[in-house]
Amino acid sequence: MSPPTMKGSIFLLLACFCLGVCIAIDSVTVNQPVQDSQAIVSLGQTFKLGFFSPANSSNRYVGIMFNIPVVTVIWVANRDKPLNDFSGTMKISEDGNLVVLNGQEEILWSSNVSNSKTNSSAQLLDTGNLVLKDNSNGRIMWESFQNPTDSCLRKMRLDINTSRLTSWRSPSDPFIGNFSLGLESQTIPQFVILNNGKPYWRSGPWTGNIFIGIPGMHSGYQDRFEIVYDNTGPAYFTYNNLDDSTTNYFTLSSSGSLQEKVLLDRKGDWEVIWSSFNSQCDVYGKCGPFGSCNPQSSPICTCLHGFEPRNKKEWDGGNWTSGCIRKVLLQCERNNSAGQESKSDGYFKLRNMKVPDTPESTTSSEEKCGDECLNNCSCIAYAYYPGIGCMLWRGHLVDIQQFSSSDGADLYIRVAYSELGITFLI
Ligand SMILES: *[C@@H]1O[C@H](CO)[C@@H](O)[C@H](O)[C@H]1NC(C)=O
Ligand SMILES: *[C@@H]1O[C@H](CO)[C@@H](O)[C@H](O)[C@H]1NC(C)=O
Ligand SMILES: *[C@@H]1O[C@H](CO)[C@@H](O)[C@H](O)[C@H]1NC(C)=O
Ligand SMILES: *[C@@H]1O[C@H](CO)[C@@H](O)[C@H](O)[C@H]1NC(C)=O
Ligand SMILES: *[C@@H]1O[C@H](CO)[C@@H](O)[C@H](O)[C@H]1NC(C)=O
Ligand SMILES: *[C@@H]1O[C@H](CO)[C@@H](O)[C@H](O)[C@H]1NC(C)=O
Ligand SMILES: *[C@@H]1O[C@H](CO)[C@@H](O)[C@H](O)[C@H]1NC(C)=O
Ligand SMILES: *[C@@H]1O[C@H](CO)[C@@H](O)[C@H](O)[C@H]1NC(C)=O
Repeated sequence: MSPPTMKGSIFLLLACFCLGVCIAIDSVTVNQPVQDSQAIVSLGQTFKLGFFSPANSSNRYVGIMFNIPVVTVIWVANRDKPLNDFSGTMKISEDGNLVVLNGQEEILWSSNVSNSKTNSSAQLLDTGNLVLKDNSNGRIMWESFQNPTDSCLRKMRLDINTSRLTSWRSPSDPFIGNFSLGLESQTIPQFVILNNGKPYWRSGPWTGNIFIGIPGMHSGYQDRFEIVYDNTGPAYFTYNNLDDSTTNYFTLSSSGSLQEKVLLDRKGDWEVIWSSFNSQCDVYGKCGPFGSCNPQSSPICTCLHGFEPRNKKEWDGGNWTSGCIRKVLLQCERNNSAGQESKSDGYFKLRNMKVPDTPESTTSSEEKCGDECLNNCSCIAYAYYPGIGCMLWRGHLVDIQQFSSSDGADLYIRVAYSELGITFLI
């Protein structure tokens, strides 16, 4: 062995041995690629970037992980093109992109932003963000926070309509799975999980402080979440912790539940302290249009007051997808021929509800909200919630859930006068 190579090996050996303990290499530079056996560590030692194999897999991927003994991956580069050996490298390519190469120097993944000879380097920050910068002017060319995989860290920004978390295919395969999560703002901002493009779960509308379709947010999440508005409307979501000593993150599991995990100790034991999926009632539209879901009841689905199953046989057999239909037409829907009762419609009040999807928001006061709805025959329900104001619904009422505690909103369902009578007898 010639002396220079020997020196090189000793340096490498030392570097590997010391990682996470004594050296502070936090960047990938032209002169400093990352081989499979190496890793870089953020300055404050919180995150590392390097090669890993998921549980029960021998494939090699480049990922960002918490710098703890239990492999906890929060971002993956080559999720659709794994290596099957240890010959991979992450480096700065000649055009200035950050790339992952296999042993044959084929590009498995690229940051895909630069196409000119740029002097750039990539630094892993202590927030968990990997940032590719143009060294000549400091401009950020690309960052992992803007290109998330399945996880959201504190201080990360999820842009409305455009940023999406995408689930792994399974716990042992980071390939893009069936589920994705994004912040939508057709009307009032809400988070939605899609399963193969169809709604699977939603957070319910944003009040400016909490999402009212998530039970428990009143107590645990006051002032932790933020949706930042610009002059065109809602722009992005971000979150913080009340307490700096807590290490946590949100991740979209391969089975489609959004989970918040908290680190219990430095060994790497994580506890799921919140999950979007707690019962079948959390599956979008479980009880069909005009059906309401209550996980404490058996069966879990009932028709809203004034409605009956569209298809009784299916419904009784536990297939609720067709939902319910109105028993008695609204007064405003009827042709007022002689002899027909023509008393005005009224409202049936439901407490502690996950309100239906696709509300319209109006500027009516709490007192005027119900009147505004009654004045228009296409309006079939309303709710008033501080921070949001008056919400109206037309068309169908879907994805309604009965919460058990003080969560949710009072929901007023418009029904014909004759259907109201029943409530006075109870
Ligand atoms: C790995 O395989 C073992 C044995 O088959 C199984 O018990 C475990 O759940 C698997 N882990 C993952 C993450 O798939
Ligand atoms: C990079 O860009 C090319 C061409 O636009 C595209 O085919 C490829 O999927 C992109 N790769 C990544 C990792 O985004
Ligand atoms: C690239 O930028 C770094 C930092 O500014 C500088 O030290 C280095 O000399 C530059 N390399 C080239 C080839 O320009
Ligand atoms: C993902 O969707 C496909 C097609 O619907 C299905 O075959 C597969 O089982 C799903 N995988 C998971 C993990 O849900
Ligand atoms: C997001 O999408 C909604 C509806 O598709 C649209 O009204 C809104 O302007 C979009 N917002 C941004 C910031 O793109
Ligand atoms: C439930 O009913 C719908 C509507 O009739 C039907 O398309 C679907 O196949 C049924 N699902 C099951 C599991 O029977
Ligand atoms: C009301 O009258 C219109 C026009 O005559 C008719 O099309 C409609 O079906 C009627 N509706 C009901 C509920 O009878
Ligand atoms: C009822 O509401 C719909 C939808 O907003 C609107 O198009 C229609 O003009 C309204 N009708 C009346 C009578 O105000």
